[in-house]
Amino acid sequence: MERSKLLGFVVLICFTIPTISCSSDRLFSGWPKSSSDENVKIRVNMTRRSERELGFSERLGLDLDRSKKRMKKIEALIRGQLDAETPVEVGDGEFLMSVALGTPSVSFEAIVDTGSDLIWTQCKPCKDCFSQPTPIFDPSKSPTFSTIPCGDSLCDALGSTQTGCNPDCTFMYQYGDGSFTSGDLAYETLSIGSSKVKGIAFGCGHDNEGQGFSQGGGLVGLGRGGLSLISQLGSKAENMFSYCLLPITDSSSQTSPLFFGEGASLSGGAKTLPLIKSSIIPTFWYIPITGITLNGKALDIPPGTFDLQSDGSGGMIIDSGTTVTILDQAAYSPLKEAIQSAIDLTPVDGSSTGLDLCYHTSSAHLTLPTLVFNFKGGVDYELPADNFFIQASENLLCLAMLGEPSGNPSIFGNIQQQNFHILYNNAQNTLSFKPTKCDSL
Ligand SMILES: *[C@@H]1O[C@H](CO)[C@@H](O)[C@H](O)[C@H]1NC(C)=O
Repeated sequence: MERSKLLGFVVLICFTIPTISCSSDRLFSGWPKSSSDENVKIRVNMTRRSERELGFSERLGLDLDRSKKRMKKIEALIRGQLDAETPVEVGDGEFLMSVALGTPSVSFEAIVDTGSDLIWTQCKPCKDCFSQPTPIFDPSKSPTFSTIPCGDSLCDALGSTQTGCNPDCTFMYQYGDGSFTSGDLAYETLSIGSSKVKGIAFGCGHDNEGQGFSQGGGLVGLGRGGLSLISQLGSKAENMFSYCLLPITDSSSQTSPLFFGEGASLSGGAKTLPLIKSSIIPTFWYIPITGITLNGKALDIPPGTFDLQSDGSGGMIIDSGTTVTILDQAAYSPLKEAIQSAIDLTPVDGSSTGLDLCYHTSSAHLTLPTLVFNFKGGVDYELPADNFFIQASENLLCLAMLGEPSGNPSIFGNIQQQNFHILYNNAQNTLSFKPTKCDSL
């Protein structure tokens, strides 16, 4: 039957027998998707994951623990690739958003992760599922669900996380803390904000274990790889997304906006950097940092410290899921020294906070130095004081940055990004930013 006739026939039975499911995705799988020319304009509100019953210092402590584990995962991922060991995904993260899958749609809270690609949720039947706050997705109840055959380019995009064909494409994502999800790669309709997007590939996890995911039922990957939400939305979302993160010190009921497509653009006055893509880990968003300037003076950082090496070591990743910036020791040491000479107080032991450089004071009583991260092309990212010193407890003011052994990637953390509107443009290979009061967006 010709496609036009078949379409007419399907439309006819859809009108006549409304109880029959009429998903064009399913009926015409393999044919070009009719929704591909529909542009999306999405706004969702992200919440910071938080242990609400705890005070700020305790929550910060947990955030920092997670960040350190996350840093280890990123390192393990890079080393894993270098040594061809079991791949380890980053997962986890600081922000959650509500998304929904299927027809009718079933919503769940997903961790938003710029450090991984796959979108996944727990699926029935469960071989093993952890408890989640919302009902577990049941593909048998959704006519728009279909598994993805092996040989499909999205199955290939799983790379070494593809585990076989049983009978269709299966995956396993393993996280650094031993948690994992495994199941079928499938197409489904994704509802996000006020948009519905058909035929989004996601991991339908039948066997899941992970303490780290307890506040959500899955994850939405916003990395640069083929399976990430931004890659799959592609030109429908103009290959871009942006977010504006509210300060970590704001109340946990405040939300941070995340935009896809047309609505993601920044208004005038933004600065733009070129992004770097790593051939070793194509998922990560690498930014070309060239130096750090404190009170107008460039720090004495050995040349090449921040360069992304061909074996995947070095470089700087911008990440929404890491709380504080983590710098190669060769950059952190001169920064710490310069800050200490700029502040006329003796540092105190702040190790209880999880941070390294702390003073017994509050920001109201100090004039803090000016700190600028310098990027390729003379682009300066000037950090407001709140983006690098944090009141970790009532009387401990601490540098919201940490050092790490040389050779690992540095990470530009989310405290440093707060109150900046940040746009990731995967088509132009650029990152733009603009100081913005995020609660005004
Ligand atoms: C997101 O937050 C904004 C500002 O607080 C609010 O106006 C809007 O209704 C929220 N949107 C959704 C979908 O909850």
